[in-house]
Amino acid sequence: MQREATAARLLKISAANSYDPGVDIDWDAPLDGGRMYAPEHRLSLHGTPLWDGLTPEQRIELSKHEVASIASVGIWFELLLMRMLLRHITDQDPRSGHVQYALTEIGDECRHSIMFGRMIEAFGAPAYRPHAVDRALGRYLGATAGGVQIFAAALIAEEILDALQREAMADDSLQPLVRMVSRIHVVEEARHIRFAREELARQVARAGKPMLWYSQVMVGRAAYTVTRSLIHPDAYRSVGLDPQAARAAAWRNPGFRETLRWAGERVTTYLDELGLVRGPARALWRASALIPD
Ligand SMILES: [Fe+2]
Ligand SMILES: [Fe+2]
Repeated sequence: MQREATAARLLKISAANSYDPGVDIDWDAPLDGGRMYAPEHRLSLHGTPLWDGLTPEQRIELSKHEVASIASVGIWFELLLMRMLLRHITDQDPRSGHVQYALTEIGDECRHSIMFGRMIEAFGAPAYRPHAVDRALGRYLGATAGGVQIFAAALIAEEILDALQREAMADDSLQPLVRMVSRIHVVEEARHIRFAREELARQVARAGKPMLWYSQVMVGRAAYTVTRSLIHPDAYRSVGLDPQAARAAAWRNPGFRETLRWAGERVTTYLDELGLVRGPARALWRASALIPD
């Protein structure tokens, strides 16, 4: 069976190549005050008049808070994914590779959330929380999501973070801590993405029409939550900008919208091929900046 063959392969890769951020990261190394935390051109205000008004030090500070915000939301996504995966496997056979790999992935996510938490702590930045409406949606999905919604929502969050982190890990001008955290996450997420892509295709093939319609709406709303939650408005406060005005400027910024479209291109194309980016929910995809207006 394809499903078990994939699980066996992913279990083998996980055993050979997993990190323990508690020992693999030097948490005592000081941060470098002169280095950016993310590539400048990926920051939400880059290219706007607000950006032009910031000093080099403020730009570094803002990059720190944008990365802290993305990591905070990353933890929230991971906690939700762990809940959904636990529900997904609860009634399945624990002797199967599929269940054992899902448990392995939950273990990976557990370590990732600790790693992101420690990174935010090392930054001396706040943990930025998603909006109350998104948190309510998360609780709803955590309690109800079926296969199509679980693996589509997981893929959206994982692939968008993956694109940003692949670039960060390769950029030797950035903070070494951010590069190492990105590298660990990219290595371990590659197998999560493989798992979710294959399982999603199976779940879609099995789903009836009403489930697909419902999933189009839920998955579109999940895409909207992912991109709209990435940069918390309070991150702008760190450099003295008005949170709501700066957020509005970021969402009008063609550079930021292009970054989101670029980061989401692979997953949006895949979900579209599976028929999940259709119907009235396309408006949510447009509002998320993952497909053009
Ligand atoms: Fe993760
Ligand atoms: Fe993951």
